[in-house]
Amino acid sequence: MHGPDLVPLPARHDPGIAPEAAARAFCEAMQKRRSIREFSDRPVSKETIEWIVRAAHSAPSGANKQPWRFVCVQDAATKRRIRLGAEAEEREFYERRANDEWLADLAPLGTDAEKPFLEIAPWLVVVFQLTKGDDGGQVYYLKESVGIACGMLLTAAHLAGLATLTHTPSPMAFLNDILGRPKHERPFLLIPIGHPADHCTVPRAAMQRRPLDDVMVVV
Ligand SMILES: Cc1cc2nc3c(=O)[nH]c(=O)nc-3n(C[C@H](O)[C@H](O)[C@H](O)COP(=O)(O)O)c2cc1C
Repeated sequence: MHGPDLVPLPARHDPGIAPEAAARAFCEAMQKRRSIREFSDRPVSKETIEWIVRAAHSAPSGANKQPWRFVCVQDAATKRRIRLGAEAEEREFYERRANDEWLADLAPLGTDAEKPFLEIAPWLVVVFQLTKGDDGGQVYYLKESVGIACGMLLTAAHLAGLATLTHTPSPMAFLNDILGRPKHERPFLLIPIGHPADHCTVPRAAMQRRPLDDVMVVV
């Protein structure tokens, strides 16, 4: 009976400065991230998207099952079908599905059912969570794993100088049909990636964060 195959910890990232300074610099960079809804059609190379997906794919996952698929769409006709599918769900959401509290919470963001950016952004990355492995095996902590990978994807895009939107035109089953993905792949997030349009604006409300004391507890 053999134990696990263990190797020495590989070379780690060295910020070259004290942890306090490195953590602060990273925080200040991340505080400049914003979700945008007005994209430019300026191209972004496939190589860039590949590196961003590689960064997301380096995420930790339950039992290292990597229960994700990143479908990267640049084809104009496919983006158009995704826009039409998303707008159909969003119209239903704004007119019927959302309750009053939800609509009131969204009002300061100024969002509505129109999603032209889904055709304008050079890339749409549709992240699927795999409810079973490609080998048919079990997966664990699906939402946690895919959520972490998506956070890393947003971070990688931001640090590459690009902007994103975390979009959830729910329910998202239409994405399986359009992208030809099997049933055990469940759409998780639809993430346009690109450059902001000239004169892009963002809602002031989206920039506010509760004080650190409200969200951080030290014991
Ligand atoms: C899980 C999740 C779902 C979201 N869904 C949408 C969406 O469907 N449409 C949209 O315009 N923004 C969506 N957002 C973006 C949020 O409105 C945005 O993150 C928030 O207002 C804070 O703004 P910021 O990302 O610029 O910090 C979503 C964000 C998250 C994390």
